Amino acid sequence: MRTKVKDLLKSKPGQEVTAKGWVRTKRGNKNIAFIALNDGSTINNIQIVVETANFSEELLKKITTGACIAATGNLVESVGSGQAVEIQATDITLYGEANPDTYPLQKKGHSMEFLRTIAHLRPRTNTFGAVLRIRHAMAFAIHKYFNDKRFVYLHTPIITASDCEGAGEMFQVTTLDLNNPPRKENGQIDYSQDFFGRQTSLTVSGQLEGELGAMALGEIYTFGPTFRAENSNTPRHLAEFWMIEPEMAFYDITDNMELAEDFIKSLVRYALENCMDDMKFLNDMFDKELIARLEGVVKTDFVRLTYTEGIKILEESGEKFEYPVSWGVDLQSEHERYLVEKHFKKPVIMTDYPKDIKAFYMKQNDDGKTVRGMDVLFPKIGEIIGGSERESSLEKLEARISELNMGRETLEWYLDTRRFGSAPHSGFGLGFERLLLFVTGMSNIRDVIPFPRTPKSAEF
Ligand code: 4AD
Ligand code: MG
Repeated sequence: MRTKVKDLLKSKPGQEVTAKGWVRTKRGNKNIAFIALNDGSTINNIQIVVETANFSEELLKKITTGACIAATGNLVESVGSGQAVEIQATDITLYGEANPDTYPLQKKGHSMEFLRTIAHLRPRTNTFGAVLRIRHAMAFAIHKYFNDKRFVYLHTPIITASDCEGAGEMFQVTTLDLNNPPRKENGQIDYSQDFFGRQTSLTVSGQLEGELGAMALGEIYTFGPTFRAENSNTPRHLAEFWMIEPEMAFYDITDNMELAEDFIKSLVRYALENCMDDMKFLNDMFDKELIARLEGVVKTDFVRLTYTEGIKILEESGEKFEYPVSWGVDLQSEHERYLVEKHFKKPVIMTDYPKDIKAFYMKQNDDGKTVRGMDVLFPKIGEIIGGSERESSLEKLEARISELNMGRETLEWYLDTRRFGSAPHSGFGLGFERLLLFVTGMSNIRDVIPFPRTPKSAEF
């Protein structure tokens, strides 16, 4: 039976154990070798002590960085520094060699750019092991948070015929022959012959279906992959990312803000309480203020600010922005970060945006100009959450849909929620990888997802 390294390191010496994993390093001399073995259960390695006289030279030669082995032996107190226990090997099985001339993860300290080109192997590095364990812990904490609050996990579809955000940034899904698609008399492609009998895409958000769920189950959340064909090659955008979208009946925008703030704080707290080994590593290697920043956020009240107030602060800041600001413009991340990092030095929840820069479903304010949207802005990240109170009036929603020339025929089912038993409700979307950027201190979103999809890049 194999014991995981994480458990071995906490075990009492004086018993026979087996560890299985990948060799990080092997050092030593003619008589004795020390193997650092990692199995992914923790950032820490277990040391295997090998008396070379007891093993064949042939076998020992093949135990190189990257090789996979099983080591059985006595767990003993370690005399060396750095670990409490180590394994005095009596038996070693070699599962898989890793040729030192070709295995790419030989020396330490590869650049993040290089590691992206070997995303199939980078989980074997300390950094990606730490990031991927934290990613798992955050996913678990998200389900736990909502389950404890008795939200229902609703699985919303990945393939859809509607554009929730109305930005036209969708990846089309089709089985038509792209070299010779069927055409209607007017020359347009005849989607009635496509797989679903209509034009379909990968979803940009599960919100619209989430609202259907909230109008029956009260409080729901979705947590799934979403897709955006926006040509944004930035450290904060992915073409395929994961989003957490709670949707709640009977919440107004203030309730929505309170939930968003409590949700993020509780996730950060979970990371601090459960991922300290990995966070300490990332703190030491990449971002010396990581843990302090996370502890700070948990204790801080987020600033609440309207868009109009925010614009005023930016206009009066005297700061030279690449994109100039004035009322009506969509905020760029430089503006968001100025407010959060320089002006307030805390997370900001910004509300009441001009309706023209926000999606059709947001509740319209009485001023006729703004809508009840809310974005949560974070240090180093910018927008981490986008959400709103939803327009619950059928008339107002219909008016907005036609004002925006949206294909109403794909939204009739959605309008039924307003037609039958409409209710005030709200929700938001948290970008999972943006959360992970914050929690891990990584600076590029490509490094917090196992296999990133970005413009011109879909390998692995
Ligand atoms: O602000 P967004 O576009 O909002 C929605 O999709 C709403 N339907 C959510 C809702 O109310 N249920 O996206 C929500 C969040 C953003 O705040 C950001 O964190 C993340 O999703 N996000 C991205 N993350 C990575 N790459 C991208 N291209 C992203 N686009 C949005
Ligand atoms: Mg947004």
